[in-house]
Order: sequence, then structure tokens, then C-alpha cells
Amino acid sequence: MEKFLIEGRTELSGKLPVNGAKNHALKLIPAAFLFTGEVTLSNVPEIEDIKRLVEIVDNIGGSVKHEGGSISIVAPEAFDGELPADLVPQLRASIVLVGPLLARYGSVSLPLPGGDNIGQRPIDFFVEGCKAMGANVKIKDDTYIFKAKHGLQGAEFLFPLVSVTGTETLLLAATQASGTTVLKNAACEPEIVALAEFLNAHGAKITGAGTHTITIEGTGLFAGGQAETIPDRIEAGSFVILAAATQSNLTITKCNPAHLEIPLYILQEMGVETQVGADSIEVIPPKGKLKPINLVTHEYPGFPTDLQAPMTVLLTQAEGQSHVRETIYESRLVYTDLLNSMGADISLLDPFRASITGPTELQGKTVASPDIRAGIAMIIAGLIAEGTTTIQNIYQIDRGYERIEERLQAVGAQIRRVSE
Ligand code: EPZ
Repeated sequence: MEKFLIEGRTELSGKLPVNGAKNHALKLIPAAFLFTGEVTLSNVPEIEDIKRLVEIVDNIGGSVKHEGGSISIVAPEAFDGELPADLVPQLRASIVLVGPLLARYGSVSLPLPGGDNIGQRPIDFFVEGCKAMGANVKIKDDTYIFKAKHGLQGAEFLFPLVSVTGTETLLLAATQASGTTVLKNAACEPEIVALAEFLNAHGAKITGAGTHTITIEGTGLFAGGQAETIPDRIEAGSFVILAAATQSNLTITKCNPAHLEIPLYILQEMGVETQVGADSIEVIPPKGKLKPINLVTHEYPGFPTDLQAPMTVLLTQAEGQSHVRETIYESRLVYTDLLNSMGADISLLDPFRASITGPTELQGKTVASPDIRAGIAMIIAGLIAEGTTTIQNIYQIDRGYERIEERLQAVGAQIRRVSE
């Protein structure tokens, strides 16, 4: 197993370019199964979740070439319906395959998808949504068997909660249904808008992406296509918070600041000054003390749950008491005990709420990365702590951040990857 060793308190400076968005590329790959010809994806981050999903595509007969940041896929003519039980549980995004595979091949069985250990992660919306479109779904030995022998019919489906992959999965399936599908209480994330734009550019008829009501006319399979992955707004936001926490003058480049309006507004409320360009965000080291805030996570365009952990590290440095309310997942504040072991003063009021009293001096410690975003939060904590921090279980960080130690070394961070 590998780990990161970090020497804290080094000032960073320079430019930090942002990679393509994990949560866009992970949906473009399943979308390739809606095409009869080759689909080429560019600006794809080289992260573990992408590698796992490519392994699944290869395993089920897709022909896939994966070189550097580009992937090309030709979907198989036929598919026996079986997804690899050893790979699917390694990432949540494998669930998105259900939409295209069910719509095109008529049957797909999958074990419960995995992903970050931040809550129950049920898939009832996927089951109910596919049933609404005429599929039959059975559960046998923890495997979900979706069947739609006579294809899918357009339907109206109301999501009980806003679900990002739920919206994406049903949107993909609906492009192959006969008739019109209306998704209500749909997610509005930029990655969904980009997915719909990609499909529309190749013949789909999707309207309303980016709003809570998306309408999809069934059009059948598409010929071939290409797509560029949009910048990763969560990586960009993590880097902005990292710059503020280390009081460094860093410029985050190759990003889309328009996807970070609320996080940048909240950081400004705290006293973090930024210079925002068309595709860059320069962070100016805060002159005075950081002000405490009350943070509430919310579906897009609200403050993203995926930036909650990095932001909580920054709040340990604010002067006074802050509150964090996590509204999406029931166990996404578990990492706070790791920050307390480094000297933070965080009280968990209940599984959804924490209060943070700052500023506190963090001391280097040995900690693990419970999930992708708590993992980058541990890196940020290590960069501001006194002494050496060791971070274990860094596969979780490699799932979502490509070669993170090399990229942070380039702006002066003392971080290195060693084998346990
Ligand atoms: C996506 O997860 C992202 N993952 C997550 O990012 C992100 O945190 C999340 O959206 C919220 O923005 C990918 O896109 C691969 P949801 P997803 O369905 O789609 C409940 C990261 O770090 N729900 O929007 O799985 C669910 O329990 C990851 O990149 C059901 O109840 O999240 C949650 O409370 C972590 N039944 C809420 O909906 C369902 O069938 C929103 O979850 C589905 C979801």
C-alpha cells in the first residue's frame, strides 16, 4: 500500500491547472453505448475510477483504447447482460451503465454499486425510474436484474430527491425509449448540461438540462461522436480552498469559475480574496483573519457536498465558531475526528451538523483517507499542520485526483508518495 508524507507550513506559489471533470467523464463513457460507431473522449483525467470503468467496458465486450487523456470506445453489437461483480462495487458511477445497456441490449444485471463510504447510497430511484419506463427489475442474491425485452417506453418520472447519477442514467435510457420522457425534480449539475449538449450534438432531442425538468424525445442510437470533458469544478474548488488554507498566492487555471459561483461567494464572505478570469481563479493570501461562517451543502448551484470536507479544514483556521450542515449524505462528517486528532476543535452535533471553533493550530499526524473528498481535505490539513503528516489509504485520493502529489510539488508543496 502507498501513503503520502507531507511536511506542513510551506508556502506555495504558482499555477495549478485543473483536469477534466471526473463526474463528467464517468458519464460520457456509458453514453458511448448509445452509439453504433466510435466515440472519442478528450481531456479525460487519468484517475482510478476512470481506469476501473474502462476495465468494465473492456470486460463486457466494448473495444476501448485509453491513451493518456483520451479514450475511444466502440460499443459491442451484443451484450449478455452480466456486469463484472468484482469491478462494479468499486465505483458509484458504474450504476450509470444501467441506462444505456438496458435501453440498447434489453437486460443488465449488476451488484450494488460502491463508491465513497459517505452514506447508504441506495438505488431505488434507478429501479423505480426504469420500471416507470416499462422495465422489469428483480433482486436475486444482492444482484439487481433489469429487463426490458420489448424496449423502453417514454414516461414521466418524479425524483423523490434530486439525484445526479439517477438523472443521468434515466436521461441516457430515455434517448432510446419510444415516445417522450419527462424527468421531474432532476439534478441541474453542469456535468448533466454537458452530457445533454454532447448527445444533442449527435442527434438527441433533450431540452431542459440544467433545470429541474428535463424532456427527452426517444430518437434511437447515434452514429459516432466526440466529446471534450469539461473542467473539474470540484478539483478547482478544492485547489482554491487549499490556496486559502495555506495562505498562498496560487492561480488555479484551466477551470470554469462560472461553475463555482456559490463557493467563491462564500469564500469571499470569509475574507478570501480572489481574482476571477475567464478560465482562472487567482487566490490572494488573506490579509486579516478568516471570518467564521454557517455552511449548508445543497444540490447545484448551491454549495457542493463534495467541497464540504475541504471547506471544513479551512474553517478550523477561521476566527470564531462556524457551523456546517451536510444535507445530502448521512455520514459525510465522519472525517472530522481525524481533524480533531490533529488539533482541530470540531463537535459533531448530529450526523448532519458540526460546529467548528477556530483558529486552531494543527499538528502533523498519521491519518487515513476515508473517501475521495475527505482524502484531499487530509492533504490540505497536512499542508497547514506543524510537522509531518502521513496519509494512508491514498487509493481513495487517486480515485479522484490525478498524480496529486506531483501537481502540488510543482507549486512548492513538500509532499511525496512512499510505499508502506
Ligand atoms: C453524485 O453521486 C456524485 N458522484 C457525488 O460525487 C456527489 O457527491 C453527488 O452526486 C451529489 O452531488 C458521481 O457523479 C459519480 P445522488 P450520486 O444520487 O449521484 C439519495 C465524488 O466525490 N439517493 O445525487 O450517487 C442519496 O442517498 C462523489 O465525486 C437515493 O435515496 O448522488 C443522496 O442522499 C461523492 N436513492 C441523495 O439522493 C437513489 O436511488 C443525492 O445522491 C439515489 C440517490
